[in-house]
Amino acid sequence: MACPLPIVDLDVLRASVDSPEARAEAVKTAEALIEYGALILRDSTVSEDANERFLDLLEDYFAQDEARLREDLRPEVHYQIGVTLENTEKPKCHSDDACKAVIAALDPAERPLDLEGGHADPKCRFFHRMGKTPPTTDFPSLRMENVTPRAFAATWRQSMDEWGSQIKQAVEGVSEMLAIGLGLERGTFSTAGEYGSHLLAPTATDLAKYGKEGEIFAGFHTDLNFLTIHGRSRFPGLHIWARNTGKRITVKLPPGCLLVQAGKQLEHYTGGLIQAGYHEVVCTRATLDALERRRTDPATAHRPQIRISSTFFWHLSSDETLSPRRFRDETRVSEVVQRERAKIEVAGGEWPDDRYAEGMKVGTLVQEELKHIALFAES
Ligand SMILES: [Fe+2]
Repeated sequence: MACPLPIVDLDVLRASVDSPEARAEAVKTAEALIEYGALILRDSTVSEDANERFLDLLEDYFAQDEARLREDLRPEVHYQIGVTLENTEKPKCHSDDACKAVIAALDPAERPLDLEGGHADPKCRFFHRMGKTPPTTDFPSLRMENVTPRAFAATWRQSMDEWGSQIKQAVEGVSEMLAIGLGLERGTFSTAGEYGSHLLAPTATDLAKYGKEGEIFAGFHTDLNFLTIHGRSRFPGLHIWARNTGKRITVKLPPGCLLVQAGKQLEHYTGGLIQAGYHEVVCTRATLDALERRRTDPATAHRPQIRISSTFFWHLSSDETLSPRRFRDETRVSEVVQRERAKIEVAGGEWPDDRYAEGMKVGTLVQEELKHIALFAES
Protein backbone atom coordinates (compact mmCIF):
# COMPACT_ATOMS: atom_id res chain seq x y z
CA MET A 1 0.00 0.00 0.00
CA ALA A 2 1.33 3.47 -0.90
CA CYS A 3 2.19 5.68 2.04
CA PRO A 4 -1.04 7.41 3.18
CA LEU A 5 0.41 8.90 6.38
CA PRO A 6 -0.63 12.49 7.11
CA ILE A 7 2.13 15.13 7.07
CA VAL A 8 2.10 17.44 10.08
CA ASP A 9 3.99 20.75 10.11
CA LEU A 10 5.57 21.70 13.42
CA ASP A 11 6.67 25.11 12.07
CA VAL A 12 3.01 26.19 12.04
CA LEU A 13 2.74 25.63 15.79
CA ARG A 14 6.07 27.33 16.43
CA ALA A 15 4.95 30.39 14.42
CA SER A 16 1.84 30.94 16.56
CA VAL A 17 0.37 28.43 18.93
CA ASP A 18 -3.02 30.17 19.04
CA SER A 19 -3.62 30.44 15.29
CA PRO A 20 -6.39 28.44 13.59
CA GLU A 21 -3.68 26.85 11.44
CA ALA A 22 -1.82 25.60 14.52
CA ARG A 23 -5.06 24.25 15.94
CA ALA A 24 -5.71 22.39 12.65
CA GLU A 25 -2.21 20.84 12.75
CA ALA A 26 -2.77 19.78 16.35
CA VAL A 27 -6.05 18.07 15.46
CA LYS A 28 -4.35 16.41 12.48
CA THR A 29 -1.62 15.13 14.84
CA ALA A 30 -4.15 13.54 17.18
CA GLU A 31 -6.23 12.08 14.35
CA ALA A 32 -3.15 10.64 12.59
CA LEU A 33 -1.93 8.90 15.74
CA ILE A 34 -5.41 7.53 16.46
CA GLU A 35 -5.93 6.31 12.89
CA TYR A 36 -2.44 5.16 11.89
CA GLY A 37 -0.33 5.12 15.06
CA ALA A 38 2.13 7.21 13.03
CA LEU A 39 2.61 10.46 11.13
CA ILE A 40 5.17 12.23 8.97
CA LEU A 41 6.64 15.39 10.51
CA ARG A 42 8.02 18.51 8.87
CA ASP A 43 10.23 20.59 11.14
CA SER A 44 12.60 23.11 9.56
CA THR A 45 14.77 23.15 12.71
CA VAL A 46 15.86 19.53 12.08
CA SER A 47 18.53 19.57 9.42
CA GLU A 48 18.84 16.86 6.79
CA ASP A 49 22.63 17.47 6.88
CA ALA A 50 22.73 16.62 10.60
CA ASN A 51 20.91 13.35 9.85
CA GLU A 52 23.42 12.56 7.08
CA ARG A 53 26.40 13.27 9.37
CA PHE A 54 24.84 11.09 12.04
CA LEU A 55 24.30 8.22 9.56
CA ASP A 56 27.95 8.49 8.40
CA LEU A 57 29.22 8.34 12.00
CA LEU A 58 27.09 5.32 12.91
CA GLU A 59 28.09 3.46 9.73
CA ASP A 60 31.73 3.96 10.74
CA TYR A 61 31.03 2.91 14.32
CA PHE A 62 29.23 -0.33 13.44
CA ALA A 63 31.84 -1.17 10.78
CA GLN A 64 34.39 -1.74 13.60
CA ASP A 65 35.57 -5.24 14.60
CA GLU A 66 33.28 -7.15 16.93
CA ALA A 67 35.95 -7.17 19.66
CA ARG A 68 35.98 -3.37 19.63
CA LEU A 69 32.16 -3.19 19.71
CA ARG A 70 32.10 -5.62 22.66
CA GLU A 71 33.94 -3.05 24.78
CA ASP A 72 30.73 -0.99 24.68
CA LEU A 73 28.38 -3.77 25.95
CA ARG A 74 26.67 -3.19 29.33
CA PRO A 75 24.51 -6.31 30.00
CA GLU A 76 24.57 -5.52 33.75
CA VAL A 77 22.19 -2.59 33.09
CA HIS A 78 20.05 -4.57 30.65
CA TYR A 79 21.81 -2.98 27.63
CA GLN A 80 20.07 0.31 28.40
CA ILE A 81 23.28 2.17 27.55
CA GLY A 82 26.03 1.33 25.07
CA VAL A 83 25.80 -1.27 22.36
CA THR A 84 23.46 -4.25 21.83
CA LEU A 85 24.89 -6.71 19.32
CA GLU A 86 23.00 -8.65 16.69
CA ASN A 87 20.83 -11.60 17.72
CA THR A 88 20.18 -10.32 21.27
CA GLU A 89 16.83 -8.53 21.09
CA LYS A 90 13.78 -10.73 20.35
CA PRO A 91 10.63 -9.18 18.87
CA LYS A 92 7.97 -9.23 21.57
CA CYS A 93 5.45 -11.01 19.34
CA HIS A 94 7.17 -14.33 19.99
CA SER A 95 6.06 -14.28 23.61
CA ASP A 96 2.82 -12.34 23.33
CA ASP A 97 -0.57 -13.89 22.52
CA ALA A 98 -2.20 -10.50 21.83
CA CYS A 99 0.43 -9.80 19.18
CA LYS A 100 -0.05 -13.23 17.61
CA ALA A 101 -3.80 -12.54 17.49
CA VAL A 102 -3.12 -9.27 15.63
CA ILE A 103 -1.19 -11.19 12.98
CA ALA A 104 -3.84 -13.90 12.72
CA ALA A 105 -6.52 -11.25 12.12
CA LEU A 106 -4.63 -9.79 9.14
CA ASP A 107 -5.36 -10.88 5.61
CA PRO A 108 -2.56 -13.37 4.71
CA ALA A 109 -1.31 -11.01 1.98
CA GLU A 110 -0.91 -8.20 4.51
CA ARG A 111 0.89 -10.15 7.24
CA PRO A 112 4.43 -9.41 8.41
CA LEU A 113 7.29 -11.64 7.30
CA ASP A 114 8.14 -13.10 10.72
CA LEU A 115 5.33 -15.58 11.24
CA GLU A 116 7.52 -18.36 12.57
CA GLY A 117 9.02 -16.56 15.52
CA GLY A 118 11.65 -17.51 18.02
CA HIS A 119 14.63 -15.87 16.34
CA ALA A 120 16.33 -12.77 17.70
CA ASP A 121 16.71 -9.77 15.41
CA PRO A 122 19.96 -9.45 13.42
CA LYS A 123 20.02 -5.72 14.16
CA CYS A 124 22.57 -4.00 16.43
CA ARG A 125 21.81 -0.88 18.47
CA PHE A 126 23.52 1.83 20.40
CA PHE A 127 21.74 3.45 23.35
CA HIS A 128 22.74 6.98 24.35
CA ARG A 129 20.66 8.37 27.21
CA MET A 130 19.36 11.91 26.86
CA GLY A 131 17.09 12.29 29.88
CA LYS A 132 17.51 14.52 32.92
CA THR A 133 18.17 12.68 36.18
CA PRO A 134 15.05 12.87 38.38
CA PRO A 135 15.49 14.40 41.85
CA THR A 136 14.03 11.24 43.42
CA THR A 137 13.00 7.98 41.78
CA ASP A 138 11.68 4.48 42.45
CA PHE A 139 13.80 3.32 39.50
CA PRO A 140 17.41 4.06 40.50
CA SER A 141 18.89 1.92 37.72
CA LEU A 142 18.19 4.92 35.50
CA ARG A 143 21.26 6.69 36.84
CA MET A 144 23.81 5.50 34.29
CA GLU A 145 26.71 7.19 32.56
CA ASN A 146 26.70 7.08 28.77
CA VAL A 147 29.30 4.97 26.98
CA THR A 148 31.85 6.72 24.78
CA PRO A 149 33.40 4.36 22.21
CA ARG A 150 37.19 4.45 22.37
CA ALA A 151 37.88 5.07 18.68
CA PHE A 152 35.49 8.03 18.58
CA ALA A 153 36.31 9.54 21.97
CA ALA A 154 37.06 13.04 20.68
CA THR A 155 33.75 13.69 18.91
CA TRP A 156 31.22 11.04 19.96
CA ARG A 157 29.34 12.93 22.65
CA GLN A 158 29.06 16.11 20.60
CA SER A 159 27.80 14.18 17.55
CA MET A 160 25.22 12.22 19.55
CA ASP A 161 24.01 15.35 21.31
CA GLU A 162 23.78 17.34 18.08
CA TRP A 163 21.41 14.93 16.35
CA GLY A 164 19.72 13.76 19.55
CA SER A 165 18.79 17.23 20.74
CA GLN A 166 17.35 18.19 17.35
CA ILE A 167 14.99 15.23 17.17
CA LYS A 168 14.24 15.40 20.89
CA GLN A 169 12.94 18.94 20.40
CA ALA A 170 10.95 17.82 17.38
CA VAL A 171 9.28 14.94 19.21
CA GLU A 172 8.53 17.16 22.22
CA GLY A 173 6.86 19.54 19.77
CA VAL A 174 4.74 16.63 18.54
CA SER A 175 3.80 15.77 22.13
CA GLU A 176 2.57 19.35 22.55
CA MET A 177 0.59 19.29 19.32
CA LEU A 178 -0.91 15.97 20.36
CA ALA A 179 -1.95 17.35 23.75
CA ILE A 180 -3.63 20.37 22.14
CA GLY A 181 -5.31 18.14 19.53
CA LEU A 182 -6.72 15.91 22.27
CA GLY A 183 -8.09 18.94 24.15
CA LEU A 184 -5.48 18.83 26.92
CA GLU A 185 -3.09 21.53 28.15
CA ARG A 186 -0.20 22.00 25.72
CA GLY A 187 2.41 20.89 28.27
CA THR A 188 0.55 17.81 29.55
CA PHE A 189 2.88 15.26 27.94
CA SER A 190 6.08 17.32 27.81
CA THR A 191 5.80 17.88 31.57
CA ALA A 192 5.02 14.18 32.19
CA GLY A 193 8.16 13.37 30.20
CA GLU A 194 10.46 15.94 31.82
CA TYR A 195 12.50 13.17 33.50
CA GLY A 196 11.80 10.50 30.89
CA SER A 197 14.65 8.10 30.18
CA HIS A 198 14.85 9.31 26.59
CA LEU A 199 17.18 7.33 24.39
CA LEU A 200 18.92 8.14 21.18
CA ALA A 201 18.92 4.60 19.82
CA PRO A 202 20.35 4.18 16.33
CA THR A 203 20.01 0.66 14.92
CA ALA A 204 22.34 -0.97 12.41
CA THR A 205 21.94 -3.95 10.09
CA ASP A 206 24.88 -5.40 8.19
CA LEU A 207 23.65 -5.55 4.59
CA ALA A 208 26.76 -7.42 3.41
CA LYS A 209 25.66 -10.26 5.73
CA TYR A 210 21.86 -9.91 5.85
CA GLY A 211 21.11 -8.10 2.57
CA LYS A 212 18.90 -10.82 1.04
CA GLU A 213 15.33 -10.17 -0.05
CA GLY A 214 12.93 -11.38 2.65
CA GLU A 215 15.46 -11.14 5.50
CA ILE A 216 13.91 -9.77 8.69
CA PHE A 217 15.99 -6.97 10.24
CA ALA A 218 13.52 -6.22 13.06
CA GLY A 219 10.53 -8.53 13.55
CA PHE A 220 6.90 -7.38 13.94
CA HIS A 221 6.61 -5.40 17.20
CA THR A 222 5.49 -2.23 18.95
CA ASP A 223 7.76 0.19 20.85
CA LEU A 224 7.58 0.41 24.65
CA ASN A 225 8.14 4.17 24.95
CA PHE A 226 5.68 7.08 24.43
CA LEU A 227 6.65 8.39 20.97
CA THR A 228 9.40 7.19 18.61
CA ILE A 229 10.96 9.50 16.01
CA HIS A 230 13.35 8.65 13.15
CA GLY A 231 15.15 10.57 10.44
CA ARG A 232 15.25 9.22 6.91
CA SER A 233 17.20 5.98 6.46
CA ARG A 234 19.39 5.49 3.39
CA PHE A 235 17.74 2.11 2.83
CA PRO A 236 13.96 1.50 2.66
CA GLY A 237 12.44 -1.48 4.45
CA LEU A 238 10.13 -0.14 7.19
CA HIS A 239 6.53 -1.37 7.11
CA ILE A 240 3.83 -0.20 9.50
CA TRP A 241 0.26 -1.35 10.13
CA ALA A 242 -2.58 1.07 10.89
CA ARG A 243 -5.11 -0.08 13.48
CA ASN A 244 -8.17 -0.02 11.22
CA THR A 245 -7.04 -0.66 7.67
CA GLY A 246 -5.31 -4.01 8.25
CA LYS A 247 -2.97 -3.05 5.39
CA ARG A 248 0.79 -3.19 5.41
CA ILE A 249 2.05 0.34 4.66
CA THR A 250 5.46 0.90 3.08
CA VAL A 251 6.85 4.04 4.69
CA LYS A 252 8.30 6.60 2.28
CA LEU A 253 9.65 9.71 3.96
CA PRO A 254 9.96 12.83 1.79
CA PRO A 255 13.41 14.49 2.04
CA GLY A 256 13.82 16.53 5.23
CA CYS A 257 10.92 14.77 6.97
CA LEU A 258 10.79 12.62 10.08
CA LEU A 259 8.60 9.68 11.04
CA VAL A 260 6.82 9.63 14.41
CA GLN A 261 5.19 6.49 15.85
CA ALA A 262 3.04 5.86 18.92
CA GLY A 263 4.43 3.53 21.60
CA LYS A 264 3.02 1.49 24.50
CA GLN A 265 3.21 4.30 27.07
CA LEU A 266 0.94 6.48 24.89
CA GLU A 267 -1.43 3.53 24.38
CA HIS A 268 -1.68 2.94 28.11
CA TYR A 269 -1.96 6.67 28.93
CA THR A 270 -4.93 7.06 26.57
CA GLY A 271 -6.61 3.80 27.58
CA GLY A 272 -6.19 2.44 24.06
CA LEU A 273 -7.59 5.44 22.16
CA ILE A 274 -4.19 5.70 20.53
CA GLN A 275 -2.55 2.33 20.00
CA ALA A 276 1.13 1.58 19.73
CA GLY A 277 1.82 1.03 16.04
CA TYR A 278 3.02 -2.39 14.89
CA HIS A 279 5.97 -2.29 12.53
CA GLU A 280 8.77 -4.39 11.05
CA VAL A 281 11.97 -3.69 9.14
CA VAL A 282 12.73 -6.14 6.34
CA CYS A 283 14.94 -6.44 3.30
CA THR A 284 12.86 -5.67 0.21
CA ARG A 285 13.65 -5.21 -3.47
CA ALA A 286 13.82 -1.46 -2.75
CA THR A 287 16.41 -2.04 0.02
CA LEU A 288 18.60 -3.99 -2.41
CA ASP A 289 18.14 -1.38 -5.18
CA ALA A 290 19.33 1.34 -2.75
CA LEU A 291 22.32 -0.85 -1.82
CA GLU A 292 23.19 -1.36 -5.48
CA ARG A 293 23.02 2.40 -6.12
CA ARG A 294 25.42 3.07 -3.23
CA ARG A 295 27.78 0.30 -4.38
CA THR A 296 27.99 1.67 -7.92
CA ASP A 297 28.13 5.39 -7.08
CA PRO A 298 31.82 6.42 -6.85
CA ALA A 299 30.91 8.85 -4.04
CA THR A 300 29.60 6.06 -1.78
CA ALA A 301 31.10 2.81 -3.14
CA HIS A 302 33.77 2.76 -0.39
CA ARG A 303 31.26 3.23 2.46
CA PRO A 304 30.24 0.42 4.87
CA GLN A 305 27.20 -1.53 3.65
CA ILE A 306 25.21 -0.98 6.82
CA ARG A 307 21.60 0.16 7.17
CA ILE A 308 21.31 2.74 9.96
CA SER A 309 18.09 4.03 11.42
CA SER A 310 18.52 7.30 13.34
CA THR A 311 15.92 6.44 15.98
CA PHE A 312 15.04 8.33 19.18
CA PHE A 313 12.74 6.89 21.89
CA TRP A 314 10.93 9.58 23.89
CA HIS A 315 9.64 8.34 27.27
CA LEU A 316 7.39 9.63 30.00
CA SER A 317 9.16 9.94 33.38
CA SER A 318 9.49 6.50 34.99
CA ASP A 319 7.83 7.72 38.21
CA GLU A 320 4.81 9.08 36.32
CA THR A 321 1.59 7.21 37.17
CA LEU A 322 -0.55 6.05 34.25
CA SER A 323 -4.25 6.69 34.68
CA PRO A 324 -6.52 5.87 31.74
CA ARG A 325 -9.47 7.00 33.90
CA ARG A 326 -7.99 10.45 34.40
CA PHE A 327 -7.42 10.70 30.63
CA ARG A 328 -11.05 9.74 29.97
CA ASP A 329 -12.28 12.36 32.46
CA GLU A 330 -10.02 15.11 31.14
CA THR A 331 -11.11 14.52 27.55
CA ARG A 332 -14.87 14.33 28.11
CA VAL A 333 -15.36 17.62 26.26
CA SER A 334 -12.68 17.02 23.64
CA GLU A 335 -14.28 17.04 20.19
CA VAL A 336 -11.59 14.83 18.67
CA VAL A 337 -11.69 12.25 21.43
CA GLN A 338 -15.47 12.00 21.52
CA ARG A 339 -15.69 11.81 17.72
CA GLU A 340 -13.07 9.04 17.62
CA ARG A 341 -14.73 7.22 20.43
CA ALA A 342 -18.06 7.30 18.56
CA LYS A 343 -16.32 6.09 15.37
CA ILE A 344 -14.81 3.11 17.17
CA GLU A 345 -18.21 2.22 18.60
CA VAL A 346 -20.05 2.64 15.27
CA ALA A 347 -17.48 0.32 13.66
CA GLY A 348 -18.58 -2.32 16.13
CA GLY A 349 -15.55 -1.92 18.35
CA GLU A 350 -15.43 -0.64 21.88
CA TRP A 351 -13.05 1.52 23.81
CA PRO A 352 -12.31 -0.83 26.66
CA ASP A 353 -11.56 1.47 29.59
CA ASP A 354 -10.59 -1.40 31.84
CA ARG A 355 -8.07 -3.20 29.64
CA TYR A 356 -5.22 -0.98 30.88
CA ALA A 357 -4.15 -1.13 34.52
CA GLU A 358 -5.01 1.95 36.56
CA GLY A 359 -2.20 3.48 38.62
CA MET A 360 0.77 1.66 37.10
CA LYS A 361 4.08 3.55 37.06
CA VAL A 362 5.68 4.09 33.67
CA GLY A 363 8.92 2.47 34.91
CA THR A 364 7.00 -0.71 35.80
CA LEU A 365 5.42 -0.84 32.35
CA VAL A 366 8.87 -0.52 30.78
CA GLN A 367 10.28 -3.35 32.91
CA GLU A 368 7.36 -5.62 31.93
CA GLU A 369 7.91 -4.89 28.25
CA LEU A 370 11.68 -5.42 28.47
CA LYS A 371 11.14 -8.92 29.88
CA HIS A 372 9.20 -9.79 26.71
CA ILE A 373 12.04 -8.73 24.42
CA ALA A 374 14.79 -10.57 26.33
CA LEU A 375 16.72 -7.46 27.37
CA PHE A 376 15.83 -7.46 31.06
CA ALA A 377 17.69 -10.13 33.01
CA GLU A 378 15.90 -10.80 36.30
CA SER A 379 18.33 -10.80 39.17
FE1 LIG B 1 10.49 -0.37 16.81
